[in-house]
Amino acid sequence: MDIEKIKNDPRMPKHIGLIIDGNGRWAKKRGLIRSIGHRYGFDNLQDQIEFIQDLGIKNLSIYCFSNENWNRPKDEVDYLMQLFDEMLDKYKKEYMDRDIRINISGNMDDKRIPENVRKKAKEIMELTKHKTGFILNPCINYGGRQEILRAVNEILESGEKDIGITKFERHLYTADMLPLDFIIRTSGECRLSNFLPWQSTYSEFYFPKKHWPAFTKKDIIKALKVFMSRNRRFGAIKG
Ligand code: IPE
Ligand code: IPE
Ligand code: MG
Repeated sequence: MDIEKIKNDPRMPKHIGLIIDGNGRWAKKRGLIRSIGHRYGFDNLQDQIEFIQDLGIKNLSIYCFSNENWNRPKDEVDYLMQLFDEMLDKYKKEYMDRDIRINISGNMDDKRIPENVRKKAKEIMELTKHKTGFILNPCINYGGRQEILRAVNEILESGEKDIGITKFERHLYTADMLPLDFIIRTSGECRLSNFLPWQSTYSEFYFPKKHWPAFTKKDIIKALKVFMSRNRRFGAIKG
């Protein structure tokens, strides 16, 4: 794979969204419990984040835990929260030198999230808020419809008038991020499941069959090639 060539291609996306689906099925297929799938999934995430940054992509949103995922069994939710705790420690240790801003989308005041996770999430956002090289957006306790309602309520409270698209977007978690170009959802499911509905209005979609823990750098390159072969028209007439 010619990484240098891909890196310099002007058609590369600037903002990718990853719906890291299929951890549970990946584990089940191997006779393992679902949580082991999450462990492999989150280990894989680490590799892919760094790879994506090194490719020159500027923003990455990752669906880590949806508002609806609270409907899962308590032991699975507890395990995921423990993984987020570890993930935030890792980011703090390893990403400070990588010029990464961590911008978490989702309600970090929700008391269902363990206190240490809430605290670490806020701390890392504060610590990295001036970094400009890359924005990493882990969506944790996130729901797209909830995000839109939160923005509406903020606007109502502030009394702001004449809200257009640009002003409205200032109230989204992704206010400082670039337009979402490309969404990859692994495991073959073809839906958004409440992931960035506002931001994805003009995104390109790609639904590879592989489950997330098995998704490699080669698969990322393959996905990028698919993206670059698409004809994005934005309502106009092109190509
Ligand atoms: C997605 O994998 C990861 C999270 C929800 C964190 P799933 O847990 O949804 O895996 P499947 O879809 O059940 O295989
Ligand atoms: C979406 O996956 C959430 C994450 C990947 C974190 P789900 O597995 O929860 O979505 P559904 O239930 O298949 O729609
Ligand atoms: Mg799933």
